[in-house]
Amino acid sequence: MFRSAPSADPDTSATGPEDRIFELEIAEVTHETEDAVSLGFAVPEHREAQFRYEPGQFLTLEIPCADGGSVARCYSFSSSPARDPFPTVTVKRIHDGLASHWLHDNAVRGMRLKALKPSGMFGPESWDVDFVLMAAGSGITPIMSIIKTALLRHDNRITLVYANQSRDSVIFGEQLTELQSRFPDRLDVHHWYTSDSGLPTAAGLASLDAPVPAECEAFLCGPPQYMNVAEEWLARTGTTARRTHREVFSSFDANPFRAGDAQASEEPDANSVTAQVEIDGMETEFAWNAATKLLDRLLELGLDAPYVCREGTCGGCAYTLTEGAVTMLANETLDEHELKHGVRLACQSVPDSTAIRAVFDR
Ligand SMILES: Cc1cc2nc3c(=O)[nH]c(=O)nc-3n(C[C@H](O)[C@H](O)[C@H](O)COP(=O)(O)OP(=O)(O)OC[C@H]3O[C@@H](n4cnc5c(N)ncnc54)[C@H](O)[C@@H]3O)c2cc1C
Ligand code: FES
Repeated sequence: MFRSAPSADPDTSATGPEDRIFELEIAEVTHETEDAVSLGFAVPEHREAQFRYEPGQFLTLEIPCADGGSVARCYSFSSSPARDPFPTVTVKRIHDGLASHWLHDNAVRGMRLKALKPSGMFGPESWDVDFVLMAAGSGITPIMSIIKTALLRHDNRITLVYANQSRDSVIFGEQLTELQSRFPDRLDVHHWYTSDSGLPTAAGLASLDAPVPAECEAFLCGPPQYMNVAEEWLARTGTTARRTHREVFSSFDANPFRAGDAQASEEPDANSVTAQVEIDGMETEFAWNAATKLLDRLLELGLDAPYVCREGTCGGCAYTLTEGAVTMLANETLDEHELKHGVRLACQSVPDSTAIRAVFDR
């Protein structure tokens, strides 16, 4: 195994696991609805350059547990890097939910929490195309970040279809009304209330008469059933969605804050392949057993590979395959476009060719 010189760029030359962990101070607490609270974080000045986030990305927080341990939970940024002073997440209280209850009951200004570097791939590829955004409940958070950024920085038109249990449970209702009156020609908001109309169906969504452009990029965030209905409705409108992005909110068992989270992997043997991997400008070459997932091998070697869920869901371990072939055992996040451009998930990759080159460039 060898490691070559680090990249000259100081912002991307992080080399140890500790470089991916930030201690953030809660600077703002805003109660959005009865069961949704926004937490704005102050980033230490000397680490601001490392903590850049894009609309659609998420923050992974370490939440303390009563037994002295902790869990890791992801929260999409609801703030816009183009507009809002603090990177902000909005947490909905979930019935019997460990982390969401803890945050609602304990988060106060001045509290410090550990967080990972912003991550995730649920963002626009291009801001030059119109957007159709479909959110349900707390699924509005990454959508809100995209809306604010698009309206302030770009010129495209946006249609939002936003489903909620009732009027009282609408997160960011006032902000959306205000944005609509500031940008009447660019933002169309259509609400669906389950209390009035029952669960959304494709035919029901069609009755909202929401304008759908001939060509768009679509973003869906909410329960899987809602996203399926949204996709069915979109298909019926006849629009050409250049890409349809889906974000699933769920909790994971993996805890990337815990040291020694590596899982046992198979020893290299006669069938092992040669892998060359670049992480943060550091190139490493090693033998990789065909029965072992790439992320497990990297962590076993003590390399600082990014990851969150280890389940193929969050996109936090995405890399670009520049040579060779791998098989992904699961993939619930990358779309056809990303796959076509060589993007793969390290937590689900096993080798499929004798030599492989991978670059962690996201
Ligand atoms: C990319 C991403 C972005 C996200 N963004 C947001 C966001 O912006 N806002 C937001 O509010 N959430 C978001 N989430 C979801 C968030 O990470 C948590 O999953 C959510 O807060 C619930 O966590 P919890 O610890 O409160 O609940 P958990 O303790 O994980 O419980 C979740 C649910 O599962 C049930 N449950 C727990 N354990 C069991 C068990 N053993 N058997 C049966 N049922 C069980 C609980 O009753 C509860 O209803 C996001 C998730 C991802 C992956
Ligand atoms: S760590 Fe989440 S997809 Fe691999």
